Amino acid sequence: MLVLGETDAGKTTLVTQLANALLATGHGVAIVDADPGQSEIGPPATIGLGRVARPPARPAEATLLALHFTGVTSAAANTLGTVVGVARMVERARAEGFAHVLVDTSGLVTGELGRALKQAKIALARPDAVVALQRASECEHVVRPYERAHPPMLLRLPALGVPRSRSQAERRQRRRSALARYLAGARRATLALDRVALRAPPLLLGTPLTAPELARVAEVLGQDVVWGERRAGGVTIVTAEPIAEAEARAAGAALGARPLVTHARSDLVGALAGLEGAGDETLGVGVVRDVDLAGRTLTVDLTVPDEAIVSVTIGRAREE
Ligand SMILES: Nc1ncnc2c1ncn2[C@@H]1O[C@H](COP(=O)(O)OP(=O)(O)OP(=O)(O)O)[C@@H](O)[C@H]1O
Ligand SMILES: [Mg+2]
Repeated sequence: MLVLGETDAGKTTLVTQLANALLATGHGVAIVDADPGQSEIGPPATIGLGRVARPPARPAEATLLALHFTGVTSAAANTLGTVVGVARMVERARAEGFAHVLVDTSGLVTGELGRALKQAKIALARPDAVVALQRASECEHVVRPYERAHPPMLLRLPALGVPRSRSQAERRQRRRSALARYLAGARRATLALDRVALRAPPLLLGTPLTAPELARVAEVLGQDVVWGERRAGGVTIVTAEPIAEAEARAAGAALGARPLVTHARSDLVGALAGLEGAGDETLGVGVVRDVDLAGRTLTVDLTVPDEAIVSVTIGRAREE
């Protein structure tokens, strides 16, 4: 069952009540937490799968079974990753044999983005039922096509949630404490980027820029350029601090390179990182502490065994 509705519609409350009711029937109940901003299951910037063990079944009390890192705390900022995560978590829940799988979603239903996102989740999750929690008709552009589809069965219910129940500051605070809880007991590990692939940003794939080339760009920009590489289609540089559009153009001109892709080291350090293992599965989430591209190492606070890590995705979400 997939539950839709705007922010504060009451999705998580309904999922909690359904989980409790289904648990009472004695069957296995799983929750897929598809809201990367207010993750109840798993750390922020992930889609999580949890097993509901005992009532009162707050999603946050579910036992974490699997994760998919999206790298962002807003579904709108990575709709593809959100959809992939939901599909993979539902698939995993089915493989584990859960009788009931409840998908709690983010509040993004508005507009074309909301329609495409929610319909993609439904297409891949293949729920038996879609529940739309609405105050007026804000979910209609998403759910109308399922009216006669069977499956999914479509249930429209009034949204009884309290609007603006949590401020942005409270949401941020919840993310901060969820991350701290998740990373309790973390250790610092330095990963060799010859063994572990840097998935995002995709670096260490081309020919390194020479020292004179790096110096030329650094002079144009007036700041350190910590890495640069040339590969088919253009040049990628990593500066110490973020640079403006016009500066990037000037740097590109200095290298005779178009297009020029830029990253800032200060954006990478402090960012959340997804740690993937065999089967392309997110094993866990860490926080980037250092990136040394010339030395080909990445230092991360993590709780996952280093040997199991095959690739790392540095997200846009940060320790807040
Ligand atoms: N049926 C209900 N009756 C009364 N209050 C409700 C009901 N459902 C939810 N609420 C209250 O409304 C607020 C928002 O509910 P909830 O967190 O379940 O919404 P949500 O749709 O999951 O929000 P978000 O999009 O932020 O995840 C909470 O304070 C909750 O206690
Ligand atoms: Mg919710």
